[in-house]
Amino acid sequence: MAPSAEYNIPIRPRRLRQTKNIRRMARETRLSTDNLIAPQFVMEGENDREEVSSMPDTYRHTIDRLVDHAETLSDLGIPAVALFPAIPDHLRTPDAEHALDPDHLYPNAVRALKDAVPELMVITDTALDPYNSDGHDGIVRDGRIDNDATIEVMCQMALLHAEAGADIVAPSDMMDGRVGALRDALDAAGHTDVAILSYTAKYSSNYYGPFRDALDSAPRSEEETPAKDIPDNKDTYQMDPANGEEAVRELMLDLEEGADMVMVKPALPYLDVIHRVQAASDVPVAAYNVSGEYAMIKAAAQNGWLDGKNCAMEALTGIRRAGADLILTYFAEDAAQWLEE
Ligand code: PBG
Repeated sequence: MAPSAEYNIPIRPRRLRQTKNIRRMARETRLSTDNLIAPQFVMEGENDREEVSSMPDTYRHTIDRLVDHAETLSDLGIPAVALFPAIPDHLRTPDAEHALDPDHLYPNAVRALKDAVPELMVITDTALDPYNSDGHDGIVRDGRIDNDATIEVMCQMALLHAEAGADIVAPSDMMDGRVGALRDALDAAGHTDVAILSYTAKYSSNYYGPFRDALDSAPRSEEETPAKDIPDNKDTYQMDPANGEEAVRELMLDLEEGADMVMVKPALPYLDVIHRVQAASDVPVAAYNVSGEYAMIKAAAQNGWLDGKNCAMEALTGIRRAGADLILTYFAEDAAQWLEE
């Protein structure tokens, strides 16, 4: 029986939604494993892993287990990992010296990864917060985050990472001028092929909570360090969530300073920012689907309130549609598997 045509409606967008294959033909956005970057947490010890309590199914791995896991990720076709260290408390100082120890957890992990899985791109984090006893991304002096003193340490960190084999260094600190300084430092040392992925528009977000649990890296409040006046948030360097225009300004600066790739972070509450940055950028744009975004879906799924897989894939597709070429996401391994199904 032919369907009734009661009205004169010549233009019917639903025609392109009738079957799975016609929907495939009409699809505008593709999510592929090529787009995924898997953040990884590394900790001291041997043959061990610990689940991050606020990030179900996400682990801190010891170097040996990290390498095994990286092999799995690479076999799934994931092109890159972004590495973050859990540094024991007693090694954290106000000047973050441990970050520059050439034989510590972080460069050792980079070397182990590049030895075992050389094709997997390793993105290192040049920020002080895991090493800084104040929990800030910069050196704190008299209660203020010192921009230029921080850059100096970051440049040395980037060299250490490059020497350990990092393919890409990623400053996640939001200090002014750090991309240009890192480029100069890397080039002067002959690391002209090490790329810079800049955290270009990183917002002072509440969605980083579970990540700070993973690394125990929250800014230390006055109560915990009564001797000093330490800000308990990152508002003087990370961006105001209310600002979009300013993200484009940060983008212009990073491009001038030589960023090879740029990033917007977080992703889901900032899809408009991703769109604006993509429109103005002539380099690949990454978005960081951060720990809090992951935790929300996981928690709802554990409660049976949302379908975790479908919501994760919809979120990742939405981030792609907004304009992200690359997505850092704790769903990377699962998504790569789901994309194979
Ligand atoms: C710090 C850093 C943070 C994240 C990545 N690098 C947290 C912060 O700025 O406090 C957050 C990532 C996430 O929440 O998944 N340099």
